[in-house]
Amino acid sequence: MADVAPIGVFDSGVGGLSVLREIRAQLPNESLIYLADCGHIPYGEKTPDYIRERCRAIADFLLVRGAKALVLACNTATAAAAADLRELYPQVPIVAMEPAVKPAAEATRSGVVGVLATTGTLKSARFAALLDRFAGDVRVITQPCPGLVERIEAGDLNGPQTRALLGRYVEPLLAEGCDTLILGCTHYPFLRPLLRELIPEDISLIDTGAAVARQLERLLQARGLLGEGPAVRTEFWTSGPVEGLEKVMPVLWGSDEPVNSFSG
Ligand code: DGL
Repeated sequence: MADVAPIGVFDSGVGGLSVLREIRAQLPNESLIYLADCGHIPYGEKTPDYIRERCRAIADFLLVRGAKALVLACNTATAAAAADLRELYPQVPIVAMEPAVKPAAEATRSGVVGVLATTGTLKSARFAALLDRFAGDVRVITQPCPGLVERIEAGDLNGPQTRALLGRYVEPLLAEGCDTLILGCTHYPFLRPLLRELIPEDISLIDTGAAVARQLERLLQARGLLGEGPAVRTEFWTSGPVEGLEKVMPVLWGSDEPVNSFSG
């Protein structure tokens, strides 16, 4: 029997769509439910307790809608709430994500790596543990990026404000000799084209969207939960204004999509 239950994917806003597109490409036979918590964005400036509460409410909603697995398509939510959700739902496969320190430390030639992420991620104990574990001799320079998420939420991927902010955030990393930049927030992959304009071409950009999609596939396969299509659907939900998300879907997802309202 084909498994027709959907996979629940969520983020504080539209950032997780950068992960969702990798999941859609990797797992074309799965139905997906995406929830953007736009009514509570940005997570990067909220307390861990607040984020944990939001993640519990969202996970409950997705599981009630029949999700067979959850993906925290958000580095900030992972830092604050992945352990909590795994404890609450030990039977549910949960894939979470964190900045790609390990692959970046392996890839750098200059020995200096930059991390662009939210304040919340960079301040978290989970991020400190990640550095302890994988940075080794590599110098890791962190750069919080307040304000950037809001530009991406507005669908502004290369306007003057986004350019100015991003330019200001990458400049100190380049000045320190970084040859590898980690996109440690799921919103930032949408800025790859602009980043490529702003930084020298021999600097590598690393994010973990594709790795998360592969990890999800492995987990589903191991539990016998892989879907077999072909009647797949992709649903979109937001806790913010529906029209706001509908407006940016063509820019960020590539097509007009109806969006449902989540009031939890
Ligand atoms: N997209 C999120 C992340 O990966 C956080 C954005 C926010 O601050 O809400 O960290």
